[in-house]
Amino acid sequence: MKLFGPKAQTISSPPAPGKIPRINGTTVFGVRPNSPLVFKIAATGEKPLEYKVLNLPQELAVDSKTGMISGKFSKEGIHILKIRVTNKSGKAEKELTIHVGQTLALTPPMGWNSWNAFGESVSQEKVKAVAQTMIDKGLVDHGWSYVNIDDGWQGARNAKGILEPNEKFPDMKGLSDWIHSQGLKFGIYSSPGPTTCLGLPGSWQYEEKDAATWAGWDIDYLKYDLCSYKWDIFDKAGDTSQTAWMKPFLSMRKPLDAIPRDIVYSICSYNTIPWAAKVGANLTRLLGDNRDEWMPISTSGSKIDKYWAHQRPGLWNDEDLLVVGSSGGWEGKARPNHLTPDEQYFHMSLWSLLATPLFISCDLAAADDFTISLLSNDEVIEVNQDPLGQPARLKINTPEYQVWVKELEDGTNAVGIFNLKNEHQNVTVKWSDLSINGGKVRDLWRQKNLGKFTTEFTTEVTPHGVTLIKISR
Ligand code: GAL
Repeated sequence: MKLFGPKAQTISSPPAPGKIPRINGTTVFGVRPNSPLVFKIAATGEKPLEYKVLNLPQELAVDSKTGMISGKFSKEGIHILKIRVTNKSGKAEKELTIHVGQTLALTPPMGWNSWNAFGESVSQEKVKAVAQTMIDKGLVDHGWSYVNIDDGWQGARNAKGILEPNEKFPDMKGLSDWIHSQGLKFGIYSSPGPTTCLGLPGSWQYEEKDAATWAGWDIDYLKYDLCSYKWDIFDKAGDTSQTAWMKPFLSMRKPLDAIPRDIVYSICSYNTIPWAAKVGANLTRLLGDNRDEWMPISTSGSKIDKYWAHQRPGLWNDEDLLVVGSSGGWEGKARPNHLTPDEQYFHMSLWSLLATPLFISCDLAAADDFTISLLSNDEVIEVNQDPLGQPARLKINTPEYQVWVKELEDGTNAVGIFNLKNEHQNVTVKWSDLSINGGKVRDLWRQKNLGKFTTEFTTEVTPHGVTLIKISR
């Protein structure tokens, strides 16, 4: 196997999933009335697994071999499904709440995006190889579900104004069908401007046509990136009002609404905080492109802490793609990651605490075991997917370390103690300084109980590393 990224396991190496079934991924899911439900139960454990919904609503069907739930609800309402997964070693049960209503993305979307991996060289073959790896390496069993093509798929508009894919995507519908047949979801990218950031055709004045094309491909997700709309349209018009900013995103919202399928709407405009909800966005990008460098990774959290109150289930502050595994696709060629293993634990822990959408963006087909294990820790992912949807708050911020606290739905707290120094350091946190109660402490990366700590907790944190814990009564 080709190795990308660090070979060495750090002290935080997560344990491999056990033989007994464990149900993972989100516990709440939003779907609109009359939209097809696309949901695969994520579960680990020795294969073969058998999937069952004990109280299956009559509108739904479940495939006992794949865990794919399908069907359609005609009315709004809440359905609490009791899921059971069994194998020869045992069984697991968990509830999945389906909210049939108008809000999608009730927990941060999780999946893969092509940009950091392949940049403009993205192709159908590469996307399929990545999706196959998501299945083969078990990432789908931990809840990773979107397969999103970023910039680089577009060809030219034909005589009817329809934007066709370029020669690297000979059969977009075939690719989409295959992705869906695996229980995964399919995403696409465009810009409200005449061209995208790569200079390829954007959707300006073709919003309805493009939405119709994507409807034909059964897309589940659209990343809509400002790019040339700013310099070609917005700056020239000279109107800086909120209405003017919202306009291009509303122009796409309308045709998306007309598609009888749920499409997560991810917008990149960097100033969206006051109006993202008004254009029906599910994700809103706050910062520029992430790089596999210590500075952006270690500082982005403190830059966005002030926006915490704008985030809620269905509208997530987007801290951009995860830069774990191979990187640099934006330069045209994937290369090993520049972050150390500890910095990658730092990154994954912070993104999980912030409840930001999690998008892997490396060449997964070439990913090493370290990268796969980093993305397969269910207790860490559960912090990100917690249904309360609260982002962590920065409670202690010194030049040496930061402490972030995320309130979870069950009344417990996840706490991340991040080492900003180049050397090991012991950090002691007093629970009263974090305004939380002490109690039982569990190390989430190691999946190990550490004991009871009633007033304070001391941990040795590796250079640029993290201790990620959950505190319960
Ligand atoms: C940038 C965006 C990146 C990627 C790129 C594609 O504007 O921030 O995430 O989508 O465009 O050209």
